[in-house]
Amino acid sequence: MHQKTIDEAKKRLFSGQLVIFPTETVYGIGCNANNKSAVQLIYKIKKRPLSNPLICHFANIDEIEKNFILKEKDYELASAFWPGPLTLILEKNNNSKINSLLSNNQNLVGCRIPNNEIALSLLSQLDFPLAAPSANISNKTSVTSINDLDQNLKKIFKIDGGSSVLGLESTVIKTTSTGCKILRLGSLTIEEIKVKFSNFKIEVENSKLSPGNQLKHYSPNKPIRINAEFVNKNEVLLNYGKNNLFSNIKSLNLSSKENLLEASHNFYNYLNILDTIECSGIAVAPIPDHGLGKTINDRLKRASYKNE
Ligand code: TXA
Ligand code: MG
Repeated sequence: MHQKTIDEAKKRLFSGQLVIFPTETVYGIGCNANNKSAVQLIYKIKKRPLSNPLICHFANIDEIEKNFILKEKDYELASAFWPGPLTLILEKNNNSKINSLLSNNQNLVGCRIPNNEIALSLLSQLDFPLAAPSANISNKTSVTSINDLDQNLKKIFKIDGGSSVLGLESTVIKTTSTGCKILRLGSLTIEEIKVKFSNFKIEVENSKLSPGNQLKHYSPNKPIRINAEFVNKNEVLLNYGKNNLFSNIKSLNLSSKENLLEASHNFYNYLNILDTIECSGIAVAPIPDHGLGKTINDRLKRASYKNE
């Protein structure tokens, strides 16, 4: 990555503008987390309700400690999984300059250190954290490549870092006295946490009231039909593994060799491609409900949710 591009991004961020940048999970749309009008811009361009808080990205744990109170279990998770796809919900300390609009005036803020060279290089050259939700219009699919950006977001300055390595968003976690609560399933799996912390009691919160856990979310424009056992005449197919499913129009296989990491990497990109094809809807093959498959199924359930 050219320093010239990073310099341009820095210039814009310092002056309160937005920048789209890569992370290992999905692309983020970032701004100076201490700047109220910049934070406001993000909510506006994403059409995101102010009740749904943004997460903050940091270069290292020292910068996080300047703004937040970390408990013992926060340190344990942080040292095991940062930099990486873990977002920890932390309590602000009295010195924190992070704008309160970012967290709906609450004291709890989602924080993470992304595992992406460009993101880390940019963050380490700034003297403020980056507030950055996923670079999509609210409730639509996240994007894992610059080409998939919504037309309205394409005009924002962007750093192209190729296709996101992991492809699913970070796992949002709040530690408890006995372990941790998963507020949003993500790229860090429950199994990975259990391997390192067998003593942790892990709860998965599935409340639709929790921000970002709306029933309808992560959604393409076309209707989605999950756990499909057949494909209708006018449907396209998002397939997984080897089976007899077949679409007359178009099929894409998330991973023909049944590798869930490969499936995660392809997930949003394939959904976005299928969404542009003339068809009555997208049929999706069953995905195994463990590891990253659990996160894919969570996204598919929300994407296919109907209001009635
Ligand atoms: O992988 C990711 O997390 C990406 C990349 C860009 O870092 N970012 C991302 O941000 O997915 P966003 O805003 O699209 O999703 C953040 C999630 C939302 O579901 C939000 O409701 C939840 O985190 N969240 C943020 N702050 C929270 C808080 N204080 N309490 C509970 N949930 C929170
Ligand atoms: Mg999002």
